[in-house]
Amino acid sequence: MCGITGYIGSGSAIEITINNLKRLEYRGYDSAGVAYSSTDAVSIVRAPGKIKNLEALLPTSVEGIGVAIAHTRWATHGRPCEENAHPHRDCTGQLAVVHNGIIENYAELRRELIAKGHEFASETDTETLAHLIEEMCALEGDCDKTEGVANAIRKALHHVKGSYALAVISQDSPDTVFVARKESPLIIGLGEGENFIASDIPAVMRYTRNVVLLEDGDFAILTPNSVTITDFEGNPLERKPFLVTWDDAAAEKGGNAHFMIKEIYENPRTVRETLRGRLMDDGEIVLPSLPFSAEQWQAFRRISIVACGTAYHAGVVGKSFFEQLLRRPVEVNVASEFRYSDPILDKETLVVLISQSGETADTLAAMREAQHKGATTLAIVNVVGSTLARDADAVLLTQAGPEIGVASTKAYLAQLTALYLLGLYLARHDASGNSRLTEAEYHSYVSALRELPAQIEAIITQEASYSQLAEELAKHHCFFYLGRRYDFASSLEAALKMKEISYIHAEAYPAGEMKHGPLALVEPGVAVVGFCTQPDTNEKMVSNLKEVKAREGTIITVIREGDETPDCADYTLSVPITKEAFMPLLSMVPMQLLAYHVARTLGCEIDQPRNLAKSVTVE
Ligand code: M6R
Repeated sequence: MCGITGYIGSGSAIEITINNLKRLEYRGYDSAGVAYSSTDAVSIVRAPGKIKNLEALLPTSVEGIGVAIAHTRWATHGRPCEENAHPHRDCTGQLAVVHNGIIENYAELRRELIAKGHEFASETDTETLAHLIEEMCALEGDCDKTEGVANAIRKALHHVKGSYALAVISQDSPDTVFVARKESPLIIGLGEGENFIASDIPAVMRYTRNVVLLEDGDFAILTPNSVTITDFEGNPLERKPFLVTWDDAAAEKGGNAHFMIKEIYENPRTVRETLRGRLMDDGEIVLPSLPFSAEQWQAFRRISIVACGTAYHAGVVGKSFFEQLLRRPVEVNVASEFRYSDPILDKETLVVLISQSGETADTLAAMREAQHKGATTLAIVNVVGSTLARDADAVLLTQAGPEIGVASTKAYLAQLTALYLLGLYLARHDASGNSRLTEAEYHSYVSALRELPAQIEAIITQEASYSQLAEELAKHHCFFYLGRRYDFASSLEAALKMKEISYIHAEAYPAGEMKHGPLALVEPGVAVVGFCTQPDTNEKMVSNLKEVKAREGTIITVIREGDETPDCADYTLSVPITKEAFMPLLSMVPMQLLAYHVARTLGCEIDQPRNLAKSVTVE
């Protein structure tokens, strides 16, 4: 995920912003850059790859440079390369911008600005901001003073849809840094005769622990001795500074003990970002990155989903959802098996490959096999510059940002969100007559999608109860996770989360299979999590759970809010109601929290569990 730092004061601005940028390296990035104001110009230095590549290009004499903004970019629009690295400039070269987030209407704005004569030097959405501010300056004609530049930026932001943390420096107001925030984090560090900006608190902690957390809709003007915060209309706002007391290690994780829990907290944002720019205000889904015509979509008679681990579990949900909506055969395969199974593929098959890293060796091998056999490949992937993203025929990016904990959490929710969007898009544009999706159903799915982020937030507020339950559950030596249909998909992922970080044996079974063998293992000390979120099969689920209860297993049920608690349950977790197909997304949040707290109770190495790697690049 991109990182921003900035400085204004009497210190060495370049050195300080680069030092602070290094403290954001953990977020992941593929290029870096800095803009600084010297006596008569705004200069920019950028480099692909690591910050050390950028450092090699920086001027050796940095005396007298007291203003700088810097950026690490994690590519979303355009390849990771020097031209697409931030900062970006306007046509005059007098203004530089760094930005985190996504400008949803950038294509339209870019077209309008090009028509007005602006020249673009990159493929990014961010560069649009630089030219838009330049355009506003030209319209207003008073950008030679701080207030004029501030007005131009505020006016420009009124034309922008999307999310942003933004920092701007301008030669027209050389002793100032301008910043704005909407749905992308940005903080101000307050110093003595100097001020800092950053995407995250750890970046500034070496210099100050006195920080202001900007809120959505805040605009700020920083000079060495002042910070003025307004809304986008210029009305003054008051934001109280906050004293950071965390130690350095905790700060990198946003004050959390582990990356895994930080990433669980990022679930709502991840879903929002994956929907952003795709689920439009009028309820239509647009997937501009997919280059297929309506005829091409129709020509895919079969869909095969292929992935590993958590991504495979997302695929299990995808299979049911696609079949439910499209009424076409959809397969789901573990990539390591797919490759060696001589899969039946042809040019009428669409192979959907799902991967967080985009570097999983088995998934890449599956892609090559599919391409070799003439199938079309579509990657649902989180890392833009990854091999999968580069080599698949089409790419639908998930917007989870970098995931650092080995146990995948937010990436799973992003993968599900992308699959829901794809399934609904395909069903809505289905001309074969197979799809059963009515107009009303489509819109009810769309409304349900919009509610998901707030519903996840509501689940996260219950964390204390999951951590209490975890203390009880940590005493068990074995877990079974049971469910039917969509709930079986949840069982697979929940069991994986528990086993990989707590090292307790955990297995998922279709609930009806228990009495065909595994029931023999149930005894006191075995915990059985039963997902009961699918009204059609709930009665049967409860019967299966009663069979477990009779063998003295501990039963934890996951039900929908408002549904009756099964009387066989020792513990019950309820999650907000959504569409049946979307329940796996909501059900997984308490399961992630539970696995995390069980592992914590047992003192396990949570972010880097034994024997596991984040990216499995060997077969
Ligand atoms: O990067 P990918 O999504 O391709 O990775 C696939 C699996 O290796 C990954 O999901 C793994 O199972 C995680 N440790 C699960 O938490």
